[in-house]
Amino acid sequence: MSVRRPLIAGNWKMHVVGDEADAYCAELLRLLDADGVPAAELALFPPFTALERVSGALAGSDVWVGGQNVHEAESGAHTGDISVAMLAGAGCGGALVGHSERRALGETGPALAARVRAALDGGLRAMLACGESLEQREAGETEDWVTGQVREGLAEIRPDDVERFSIAYEPIWAIGTGVVATPEQAQDACALVRRVAGEFLDRDQIRVLYGGSVKPENAAELLGQPDIDGALVGGASLKPADLLAIARAA
Ligand code: PGA
Repeated sequence: MSVRRPLIAGNWKMHVVGDEADAYCAELLRLLDADGVPAAELALFPPFTALERVSGALAGSDVWVGGQNVHEAESGAHTGDISVAMLAGAGCGGALVGHSERRALGETGPALAARVRAALDGGLRAMLACGESLEQREAGETEDWVTGQVREGLAEIRPDDVERFSIAYEPIWAIGTGVVATPEQAQDACALVRRVAGEFLDRDQIRVLYGGSVKPENAAELLGQPDIDGALVGGASLKPADLLAIARAA
């Protein structure tokens, strides 16, 4: 039997401006204080401009903060990108790699494995996102596609990275649409991800998250599936109470 601690991560995407980040953190800390810390591990992926204030505000709490992206190069001519050292310097403990909204902009392929490697080598946690489009699901291509994404993203991983690594399975058709995968669809895909990731890492230790329209109302059923170890939450993570409600359902 495994002892995987659930991980609930909030992806703010291009939301939360200036002082709103301080108000969010104050409310999150207030709720953690009032209602207790959930058993699940908590993480937030704020926009780059809010990383420093969020990591500062949450220092001393159990919540870790990560960048929504990271570049594989140490430094250089990469306009608009962010390095591992920049994230670490802003107080980050992790980075998200390969979100479908980045993949859609052309960030795919072996560079993602290099990003995972760079984040881990720089002392950060890495979360790799994967998932199929609606067209791919309807064409029966989900298994091949997701298998390929996992193998590609893990190409540079090492067994001892497992504690600082996680994979979020996020079907593109469920992201921000309100159309959540059924618990069976999510379980099947997360089991597949675990099986493929198990070619590289201890399959009983690796944390596989589901993402795509996770809300307090559907969290318990999704998180109750045997191969779902947490959630990557977009829209619902913008309200601290909703993020915590999801974490308490884990
Ligand atoms: P959503 O986003 O929860 O708003 O569907 C999830 C994600 O993209 O990480």
